[in-house]
This record gives sequence, structure tokens and C-alpha cells, in this order.
Amino acid sequence: MKFIAGNWKMNGSRAALQTMIDALRDVDTKNTVVLCVPYTMLGADAGRAALGAQDVSMHHHGAFTGEVSAEMLRDVNAKYVIVGHSERRQYHGETNDMVREKAAAAIAAGITPIICVGETMDEKQAGKTMAIIESGVRESVPENVDAPIVIAYEPRWAIGAGLTPTADEIAAAHTLIADTLKSMGLAGTPVLYGASVKGNNAAEIMSIPNVDGVLVGGASLKPDDFIPIITSVK
Ligand code: 13P
Repeated sequence: MKFIAGNWKMNGSRAALQTMIDALRDVDTKNTVVLCVPYTMLGADAGRAALGAQDVSMHHHGAFTGEVSAEMLRDVNAKYVIVGHSERRQYHGETNDMVREKAAAAIAAGITPIICVGETMDEKQAGKTMAIIESGVRESVPENVDAPIVIAYEPRWAIGAGLTPTADEIAAAHTLIADTLKSMGLAGTPVLYGASVKGNNAAEIMSIPNVDGVLVGGASLKPDDFIPIITSVK
């Protein structure tokens, strides 16, 4: 069984989400299916999928104009939240320390964080991929986690670019993440791969050791693109 999550980023509408939910109802799969949608689309009856958000405040309540707390996400029945996506790190200056606090806020509210880590092209070219991934996991995961979490490895240079690392590169990254999680007492935590996952590469990517599923951007927006990814693995 694999974990297939879509990240709609700042796309879609409530009508588009309803179309997706309706299309997913008849999909024959045992895989976990999650749709991480803009805040305005949460609260829908997601049928056989679960809904998640794409960010959350590290604060619980108070004078933080524009922010949304983990308790508020739970109030609209969100089950997951992406934290530390590379676009949050890039455009909003989010650091591992901030991501860890957001993940802790989610866990405290009973929401499963999908914690993203990954290297930029500069870091890759400087030979720092493994160091960035390991420190990303060690610093972005809260201490003494006693609830489910999910990790997503997203090589930042490959997102939305139609580029993917080689199977060996993905295997090396995921093995490092699995080993790091094990050393933190978190063996068995699902680790997703994300960046340019499509219907024609999803099965191959999910056959790589330690790849427990995928986090899909552009190809999660339309049923015709997303369903083949879900059904590409049993
Ligand atoms: P793409 O699948 O569009 O490359 O996006 C990946 C991503 O950022 C998912 O969180």
C-alpha cells in the first residue's frame, strides 16, 4: 500500500475539488489518497480521500493576522498539513526551526504533518545533497514525536521542471532518510518522493526501495492525470 498525496498549491476551486472527489469515489485502490488544497477548499466531504492543508501557523491563536492555526484546520476536518514545502522555504523564508514548530503545532492538534525536505540546485552542485537532506530531517522533525508523521523528499530543482533525479539518486536519498528516521526512533515513518511525478513515472518511482509514496503537484489537479498515478501501484 502506498501513500499518494496531491499538493494543489494555489490552484483549483471548490467546484474542481468536488469534481476530483467524485472521480475518486470509483477508483479501485487500497492506497491512501490525500488532497492538500488551499484553505478555502477545506471542509468538503472528501469521500474516499482525506483532505489536508498546505501550511499552518506555528502559533495557537491570537494576533497573527492572516494565519491559520492547527486547531482551526482540525475544526474543518483536515487530517494532514504540508509543512516546509520548498515554496514556503523559498518565498517565505521558512527555516528548519520554523518547520519543526509548525509540525509540532500540527501534531498537538491531532493533524499529521507532511514534512518536506530537499536540496536546491546550488546545494546539489556543491555536493551537499545528503547533508541538506539529513539536517532537514533532524532539524525539521519535532523531538519525542508520539504521533504519525510523514516525510516528503522533494529535490527543489526538480519541482515543476519536468526533471527527476535518477533512480539511484532517489534510492540514496530515501535510504538516508529512512536511516536517519530510524536513528531518531521513528522507523516505519512513510517517506514520499515529490517533484515532477506523472502517470508515466509514478510506478517506477514507487518501486524504488524506501519510497513509500509520492507527493504530486501539477499532475494532481485533474482526475485524468491523478487517477493513473493512484492506480499505477496496488
Ligand atoms: P510538481 O509535481 O508539479 O513538480 O510539484 C511537486 C511538488 O512541489 C509537490 O509538493
